[in-house]
Amino acid sequence: MNIVKTIADLRAAVARARSEGKRIGFVPTMGNLHAGHIALVKKAGQRADFVVASIFVNPLQFGPNEDLDSYPRTLAADQTKLFDAGCHLLFAPGVEEMYPHGQAQQTLVRVPGVSEGLCGASRPGHFDGVSTVVTKLFNMVLPDLAVFGQKDFQQLAVIRTMVRDLNMPVQIISEPIVRAEDGLALSSRNGYLSSEERAIAPVLYRTLCEMKTALLGGQRDYPALIAQGQAQLQAAGLRVDYLEIRHAPDLQPANAAAHELVILVAAFLGKTRLLDNLLVDLATH
Ligand code: PAJ
Repeated sequence: MNIVKTIADLRAAVARARSEGKRIGFVPTMGNLHAGHIALVKKAGQRADFVVASIFVNPLQFGPNEDLDSYPRTLAADQTKLFDAGCHLLFAPGVEEMYPHGQAQQTLVRVPGVSEGLCGASRPGHFDGVSTVVTKLFNMVLPDLAVFGQKDFQQLAVIRTMVRDLNMPVQIISEPIVRAEDGLALSSRNGYLSSEERAIAPVLYRTLCEMKTALLGGQRDYPALIAQGQAQLQAAGLRVDYLEIRHAPDLQPANAAAHELVILVAAFLGKTRLLDNLLVDLATH
């Protein structure tokens, strides 16, 4: 696996692969890689001939009081995992390489609608930072396809909308959430949890599963279902940021006719903000 830190070296390596007729697959990450990220790299390997991954902790998508400084940086371990997963090229730029003119004057890509509400409401500017850095990375790598996880369901919707609206010639592929055995969605931020918090954390997925069972069983009183879920999470010691039932294809509030639903949750456990979601298809029941 080749490792490059500059845009020039990245472009040269990708151009070589393309000149050999290879299809380019891309997996953008912020590093501290776990099995969820690796599943994306392997999917890219199935769909493309040349797999590029990026590791960049993007300051533009962090709020002023968020965890930019403490975000785990584990480049050596990440390299081994990427190599083992069949990645061909790792792009690991520094902040200077990505934002040579500073962040304050950076041109932004903003995706209205789908980036508002949910995480967009509690993390102002977050999705502008995500859509901007992903646009920059797409323009640097020029991939045929890019793979994203359903773990960040709203992020995936933002990227799909951006690619559609800006006519980006990149196919977006999504992968299901990879979970620990007890159901907790894998996340780089799980490392912030104390052992006591880690033992509590699976309540998040349990609550989503119980809500899904109720929906499939015919429960249609969404506000009551949400109130019950919130109470369960609060009783376990979590502070709920949001718990919502939305229409999965466009993340609009779910109306009575919607059958492709997604239950989305963000909740704080101590200082750690945990995210999860679960798809529910009422049409098959
Ligand atoms: P990061 O949090 O590192 O995630 C990189 C990719 O891995 C995202 O597509 C995310 O959805 C996926 N992922 C994370 N945990 C997962 C899990 N448990 N199962 C499946 N996929 C999982 O998301 C970002 O970085 C950044 O916002 C980025 C897109 C790189 C832009 O900076």
